[in-house]
Amino acid sequence: AAAEKGGHPSFMAKEIMDQPQAVADTLLGRYDADGNLVLDELRIDESALRSVDKIVVLACGTSSYAGMVAKYAIEHWCRIPVEVELSHEFRYRDPVVNPRTLVVAISQSGETMDTIMAIRHAREQGAKVVAICNTHGSTIPRESDAVLYTHAGPEIAVASTKAFLAQITACYLLGLYLARLRGNKFPDEIREILGQLQAMPDKIQKVLDGLEQVRTMARWMADTRSVLFLGRHVGYPVAMEGALKLKELAYIHAEGFAAGELKHGPIALIEPGQAVFVIVPSPRGRDSLHSKVVSNIQEINARGARTIVIAEEGDTDVVPYASEVIYVPQTPTLLAPLVTVVPLQVFACELATAKGLDVDQPRNLAKSVTVE
Ligand code: G6P
Repeated sequence: AAAEKGGHPSFMAKEIMDQPQAVADTLLGRYDADGNLVLDELRIDESALRSVDKIVVLACGTSSYAGMVAKYAIEHWCRIPVEVELSHEFRYRDPVVNPRTLVVAISQSGETMDTIMAIRHAREQGAKVVAICNTHGSTIPRESDAVLYTHAGPEIAVASTKAFLAQITACYLLGLYLARLRGNKFPDEIREILGQLQAMPDKIQKVLDGLEQVRTMARWMADTRSVLFLGRHVGYPVAMEGALKLKELAYIHAEGFAAGELKHGPIALIEPGQAVFVIVPSPRGRDSLHSKVVSNIQEINARGARTIVIAEEGDTDVVPYASEVIYVPQTPTLLAPLVTVVPLQVFACELATAKGLDVDQPRNLAKSVTVE
């Protein structure tokens, strides 16, 4: 087993380091020489894809956060409404689904029973199902109309890392493909993003090369009882995933929030010393989201929180209010989750390891949940 971990202390540590490769392999072979996408495996006829009027993403756990990222990207690029729903909630609430609905089922294992039941239900109502899956020949792809495989390689650690980045990547590919198929409304932006996507493995590598700060911080935070995570736009699912990783691996109470909700409740939790991670949108983004999140940091800093800020390189606005700033490379806003989630994965893995816990096999959890 030591050899399989390639010199890393755990499978999870290795899988985190494998992420640039997982993303590169998921992109591999899906571009033609002119930089256009070729998704031959998407075997649903083009006229059916053109007439889709709603996308429903179904998934559980970490995969559902990849789905939330997909919502922001696909709605913007394709102007199709996207709902993201936990598979187990979808199945039992009489959802509105019909032949013009495209279901995207995201699953690392392809064997999650809740998601299998949900896609069966959707197909009975005539919906087409595309699976985004990491496991060849598993049940979910077999029961779907088409599959886009993520090429993250086998994931051993129970908590998902490299499969998550590969899922997000596959969601981008699907969104960019649909945008072109349905009459691309932002040709320049789409071309730019297609190029930028190929630069992501190097950017993820840069994050991995600079992690000593996060590791040191995780080690001296080993006794922390509660950690909050705030994010906005695509930073929101990243905050949710950061909190999930900490619960799963380190058994610490952790909660992710949309930063805009702070004033509607969570700010009541802020007391001196409370650790809060904040994922800050790019200051180069279209809207004023950056300054709104910077004000959130200011507010919680004023109430004595220990703010740990994840920001884009060059963003100095956050410095006066942050106990710690973790910089990630500049990326287009919608692609940022591929870099901003990495320090959070490492934080959880390192903190759990410092507590002497088995990060590959957290208590009470299974890699693939094959019962309802
Ligand atoms: C389990 C695993 C999680 C995973 C979730 C969904 O709960 O512990 O890491 O995110 O199932 O699994 P799937 O294989 O469908 O992505």
